[in-house]
Amino acid sequence: MSKHHFITIQQAIAQGEGEASLRGWVYRERESNKFKFIVLRDGTNIIQTVVKKEEVSEQIWNDAVKLQVEASIIVKGVLKRDERAPTGVELNVRELTVVGTSDQFPITKDQSIEFLADNRHLWLRSRQMNAMLKIRATAFRAFREYFDKHDFIEYHSPMFQATQAEGGSSLFSVKYFNTQVYLSQTWQLYAEPAIQSYEKIYTIAPCFRAEKSVTSRHLTELWMAEMEVAWAEFTDIQNYGEGVVKHIVKSVLEHNALDLQTLGRDAAKLRPTVDKPFPRMTYTDVLKLLKEKFDMDIEWGKDLRTIEEDKLSSLFDLPVIVTEYPAVVKAFYMKEVPGHPEVVQGCDFIGPEGYGELIGGSERETDIEVLKKKLIAQGEDPENYQYYLDTRRYGSVPHGGFGMGMERIISWICGFETIKDAIPFPRTPARWTP
Ligand code: 4AD
Ligand code: MG
Repeated sequence: MSKHHFITIQQAIAQGEGEASLRGWVYRERESNKFKFIVLRDGTNIIQTVVKKEEVSEQIWNDAVKLQVEASIIVKGVLKRDERAPTGVELNVRELTVVGTSDQFPITKDQSIEFLADNRHLWLRSRQMNAMLKIRATAFRAFREYFDKHDFIEYHSPMFQATQAEGGSSLFSVKYFNTQVYLSQTWQLYAEPAIQSYEKIYTIAPCFRAEKSVTSRHLTELWMAEMEVAWAEFTDIQNYGEGVVKHIVKSVLEHNALDLQTLGRDAAKLRPTVDKPFPRMTYTDVLKLLKEKFDMDIEWGKDLRTIEEDKLSSLFDLPVIVTEYPAVVKAFYMKEVPGHPEVVQGCDFIGPEGYGELIGGSERETDIEVLKKKLIAQGEDPENYQYYLDTRRYGSVPHGGFGMGMERIISWICGFETIKDAIPFPRTPARWTP
């Protein structure tokens, strides 16, 4: 075979004519006695190719006829626009090399969700998963871009941690030589010490939550994008959160239009998030709104459940920032509202279309006595948090931050029914393989 200069399938579709060399995997194939049609896929798109018995060597024809779904091949041929082809262009094959054969690829049409989950390593090649992987990469890149632009630096916290941060019930414990430690629920208690070295930091890292309930929103291993910033107040935290969500959605709309289309996701549904300011309202006002619109009675002091978050989100076409939650439903580190210790300066970003909490954040409590009191109330020994309390002993400053569940954001952007589709190999209480 002659020397190749490969182009991607997407480039070939754009080119639409002339010679091209492509490489990829057999997505679909069918044949007659004179023609073999191979729909080829690569990371960028699919294209129909045709091998004509009369026009190729006997060897190429014999190889082509034997090809099965997911074999990897190299083809060279001539492009031609053709409305009947799935992506509007067809390649008339002149040369073909089989790189890796495939024998009865297990995934065929109409298989159960369970079967696809068991074969996740193969299902990743599907058009849907391919689109997700690209959108996911855009979201990660956009998060970093946004904070790099605002002079933050990337910072890394340990995954083995000696204490809890978000409540003991969702901790995974790990045998650590002769003692027991926990997998990180959040970077936060290791981020707060670092902002006294460099004021503006972010990370994207795995987090672990032993949430027993199987829902469409919960994973046991998720990627959390977090930021922490010194000399900042509650509204600054909300502004950063709104800014980065807008930037992520805008980037996906710019770079992944084709992928959204592959997923059947209406991009217009994402537009308001980019174009309009996010509504902001207190927890107390949310209760009033739910009473007024849906006649729902929620006792003040109860956390918002899925059903309440969903009703709230149904009133808007973009994320809503809910602020000033009752202290009793939030983590120990959130700052009390001055003069109103029963509420804290914590916020949740509730995504539209019933995707639930995308971001949780707060200004941080700086009063060391309040922190100790709250730790004790949760059954914790403040002794174990001395390193953390030192941040308040030596040059404490107003500060805060948030954490964003990457899979929550991706699931919403993609319009998925379950968060499991937003990560390559999901981990849930019922699933830890492949
Ligand atoms: O609200 P959370 O628990 O906040 C924290 O961990 C803070 N320490 C973050 C911070 O201020 N630095 O978690 C943050 C986000 C949630 O809003 C949600 O999007 C996501 O992480 N999240 C989950 N996503 C999927 N599965 C789970 N089990 C999740 N738990 C939290
Ligand atoms: Mg939360």
